[in-house]
Parts: sequence; C-alpha cells; structure tokens
Amino acid sequence: MSPESPLATTLDPDAPRKPKPRVFSGIQPTGELHLGNWLGAVRTWRAQIEEGRDDTMFCVVDAHAITVPYEAAELRQKIDAFAIDLIACGIDPEKTTLFVQSDVREHTELAWYLAGVTPYGELGRMTQFKEKGEGKDFVSTGLFTYPVLMSADILLYKATIVPVGEDQIQHLELARETVRRFNHRFGPVFVEPQPRLSTTPRVMGLDGESKMSKSKGNTINLFEPKEEFWQKLRTAFTDPQRLTRTDPGRPELCNIFTMHKAVSDAQTQSEVAENCTGAKWGCVDCKKVLMEGFERELVPLRAKREALSMSHVRQALGDGAEKARRIATETMKEVREVMGLGSLAT
Ligand code: TYM
Repeated sequence: MSPESPLATTLDPDAPRKPKPRVFSGIQPTGELHLGNWLGAVRTWRAQIEEGRDDTMFCVVDAHAITVPYEAAELRQKIDAFAIDLIACGIDPEKTTLFVQSDVREHTELAWYLAGVTPYGELGRMTQFKEKGEGKDFVSTGLFTYPVLMSADILLYKATIVPVGEDQIQHLELARETVRRFNHRFGPVFVEPQPRLSTTPRVMGLDGESKMSKSKGNTINLFEPKEEFWQKLRTAFTDPQRLTRTDPGRPELCNIFTMHKAVSDAQTQSEVAENCTGAKWGCVDCKKVLMEGFERELVPLRAKREALSMSHVRQALGDGAEKARRIATETMKEVREVMGLGSLAT
C-alpha cells in the first residue's frame, strides 16, 4: 500500500480514531428559558434531533449554576422546570439523550483531570468570567474554572458538534485547545469539537444594548403568557435612528429584524425590510407581524408543555443519565489509564 492511500491513515495505530458524529450541548437551569436560548441554541438542538443523522445528547448543566450564589431549593425546582421546557421545545427523550449533569459524576471528575492541562492564563482571559465576576464582592474559584467543566462536559462524550450561541465560542475554543494539549501529552483520546451556530447566534436584549441574558434582566421568556410576551416585544428597542414613524429604518441594525430572520418566511422578511426602509410601517406594525410568527411556533410548544407530567419527565431524565453514564464510564477508563491514575482494575 502506498503511503498516499487513504487506508494508510486508518491503519496507523497512533492516529486518532475517526469520531462517530456526536452532538452535545447544555443549558444552565437559572432564570427562565428565553428567546436568546431558543433562537441561539435550543431550536438548533431540535433541528439536529429531527435530522436524525447524528447521536445527540443534551444536558441541564446544574453544576455550572453553583458557580454564583444560589438557593439550593430553587435550583432543584429550576432543574425540573428546564427539563420540562426542553422537552416541550422538542428535545424529545424518545429521540435523544436528555439528562442532568450532576447525575453523571464523571463530569466533575474529568474536569479536575483536565484542569491539569488547562493553562491558568487562558481562564483569566475568558470574557464571561470577566463579565460575571466584575464588581462582585465574592468571586468563586468555580466561576474561574467554569470553562474547564464545560470542556469536560463535551470531551466526556467525545462530542464532535456543539450547537451554541456566539457567547460560548470562546469556551469552545478553549475546549479544542484542551484536546490538543491532552492528546499531545497522553495520546489520542479526545476529538476536537466544532461549534455549530444558528442563523441568530446573538439575540440582543430588549434594551438593544447588550446580548439577551438572564443576568441582565433584558429577556423575553419563551413560555411567558402571550399578553406579557407581546407587551415586552412591543416596547423592545429597535433602530435608534428611527425616532418617528416617517424615519426610514435600517433592518440590518435592528434586533426585531434579526428575529424576523429566524421566525418569518422569506416573503415576509422582504416585505418587512421594504416597509421598514421605506418608512411605510411603524416599528409596532413590524413587531405585530413578528408576534404572529412567534405565535405559530409557540402555540404547539405551550400545548406540549401543558400536557407533560413530572413523573414522565423524571423517568426520562433517569433513563438519559443511565445512557450518558455508560459512555462516560468508558471514556473515564481510558482517561485514568493514559494518565496513570488509580490502583484498582476498573
Ligand atoms: P447558557 O445556559 O447561558 O445558554 C444556553 C445556550 O443559549 C445560548 N444563548 C444565546 N444565543 C443567542 N443569543 C443570546 N442572547 C443567547 N443567550 C444564550 C448560549 O450560547 C448557549 O448555547 N456555558 C453554557 C452551558 C454549557 C455548555 C456546556 C454548552 C455548559 N456546558 C457544554 C455547550 C457545551 C451556558 O452557560 O449556556
């Protein structure tokens, strides 16, 4: 066989194994599921599941949520609430693996091992750490090492595709670097995960100033009652140059148009753009059309959510954790072995 033959690579015992496509992503059970989560991530998760091609895993990352001050009883309740919301959003446990992070202990174990190959300096550069820690009296070590746990979440399942919003790209880059460092030092155990962005990877908040975010209080929550949803959308910030109805708007700079791109069909989008730039519609007209688009998406989701029982959800999470644990156990065997850890046969 010539060295150029494609088989030459597959037969090389030191070459990393060709990864089976696996999708993994997670969400923190804090605040409420909002439009940024939905349009930036969860809707892409649903699409990945519906495509049915890759193995998919989605996780409620409760261990990430304890890196800032929190109430234990509230966290428990939020874990359930997020699991219900995700299932209502089409993260169907019959078709995917849905589980809670702390039900699979290997996440925290791997995080500690990966900390040994994660450069301290890189963690200090993480934007989210700087934003969340800024001006706080107490900043936990967990907030600093948060991205290491995130790397562990992904690498534990050797995930190759990670659908996230833009704000997680920096963390994902660190995970990729961690793979390179780990494999270089211990051998080809992990695979480099690739981010997958939606068409709306950065949904701005109602204030129009910063990203829609639970911590900024500028969200529209996905399962907000229709009337409250509309009241928030109605007052949302638009193009700052459109002070009166007769000012022509700039759709490319308007967060409302960004959302239209996600929920309205192509014809509606061009109608909106034309009426905005030509100052034929006011911003409220444009928002009314957007609201119709959201309603088309949300009515079935609300109905599904109403119909879900907690016992069904718990059963699904238990099954999901069991499936996840099986993969996690295998990875950890490999990791302990290559790192020279432990004294007992596993
Ligand atoms: P979290 O819980 O903040 O957000 C969940 C997902 O929603 C996306 N998102 C947005 N997308 C667009 N516009 C917005 N305004 C917006 N706000 C949130 C986030 O990018 C994310 O994809 N660290 C992660 C959770 C995590 C994770 C993981 C993700 C932990 N381990 C492993 C992927 C893989 C976080 O805090 O997401």
